[in-house]
Amino acid sequence: MQRLKGFREFYPEPLPPGEAWSCDLRQHVFDCWRRTARRYAFREYDGPPLEPLALYTAKSGDEIVGQLFNFTDKGDEAVAMRPEMTPTVARMVASVERAYKKPVKWFSMPQLFRYEAPQKGRLREHFQLNCDIFGEADPAADAEVVALLVDVLRSLGLTSEDFVVRLSSRKAWQGFFESSGGRDGKAYEFFQVVDKLEREDEAALEAKLGPTGITLGAVRRFIEAGEPTPELQGVLNNLRARGLGDFVRIDYGVIRGLAYYTGVVFEAFDRKGEFRAIAGGGRYDNLIRSLSGGRADMPAIGFGMGDVVLALLLRERGRVPSFASAVDVVVLVEDESLRPESLGIVQGLRDRGLAVDYTLVPMKGDKQFRRALEQGAAHTVRVERDAGGVVARVKDLKARVERVVSVADAASGAW
Ligand code: HAM
Repeated sequence: MQRLKGFREFYPEPLPPGEAWSCDLRQHVFDCWRRTARRYAFREYDGPPLEPLALYTAKSGDEIVGQLFNFTDKGDEAVAMRPEMTPTVARMVASVERAYKKPVKWFSMPQLFRYEAPQKGRLREHFQLNCDIFGEADPAADAEVVALLVDVLRSLGLTSEDFVVRLSSRKAWQGFFESSGGRDGKAYEFFQVVDKLEREDEAALEAKLGPTGITLGAVRRFIEAGEPTPELQGVLNNLRARGLGDFVRIDYGVIRGLAYYTGVVFEAFDRKGEFRAIAGGGRYDNLIRSLSGGRADMPAIGFGMGDVVLALLLRERGRVPSFASAVDVVVLVEDESLRPESLGIVQGLRDRGLAVDYTLVPMKGDKQFRRALEQGAAHTVRVERDAGGVVARVKDLKARVERVVSVADAASGAW
């Protein structure tokens, strides 16, 4: 039976032939995500993978709602696999608002599910690093999450020649919409057209803009001018002070599809423009208030970075490390009568935290040794009888030196 379209299987390296996703690469990405978020003093949280359907239909916007994996469960409850983390974390923060000092800086690495047409960089599941700051309206918070986004990508070996963060602002677009004769109640519809500017042809865009009262020419001129708003200027200055100015630029071509954004928005792209967005985020100052029915009210800003485009980009730029061996020691069982002593050594070394492998069933000695080399083990240990009883030969495979030690010393790693 085949796996479902748009879902992945992750294999350990070395990868089998054909197109395969690497579990080692996934772990490498997770490690860099987690380490960098912690360097920015963010704390990790998680939430449920299955949520009430209404959590998304209320606030996320039509695009994501059209992509939901949703069903009615056995208790007649309308539920959905989480397509994004933001509504979940907004609800979590709102419910414990008083328990944490502000600003609350949290990250998570959930697997998310969207019923999209699978294509390069877009699947029906992905892992997404989410980093958000709650309780701070100052553009310093916006700059902090953008700096974190940049540093996450740098930690994976990418440079300002590989990617750029395009900074924009819903407020700037709102101002443009109002001053250019946009029709009342049509602002979100207008934002959705702007979100598709780079993906649809002129005629379709003109047709969709018609009812909003704005012309495509005016939209293009506004993007061309790219005048930063005061808040965006604040973010730029902050990032330049950190020496991160080369990683960002003002670009009103970005507006973001999700409905809840209220201020600064941004997306990270590869410089060559070959891939879809690596990450996207922005300020959503009203979501907590509306999700909590007004009980909690907190400004918020954050981003999500998916693992799919990231893996493609890292491969394309040659930034996938070669994954070191997972084995420290192979215990060679050449004399089956000494298997009990060999198992004692295996267990002793594992208790000390080493990764240890050995043959489960009888196998020729030279074959075991070849396997140890293939596994990239640093040492082999072989138990044998000598005149004085039973000893262990510990071989350092790199230095090619061998030492004879007692079985007890071999088991405690005292070489
Ligand atoms: P988003 O732009 O929908 O934002 O997703 C963020 C990133 O997740 C995208 O840039 C992309 O890398 C990845 N992604 C999204 N959908 C897929 C897919 N079907 N396949 C592979 N990768 C995908 C959000 O989800 C917001 N909730 C982010 C956020 C957090 N905003 C504020 N805080």
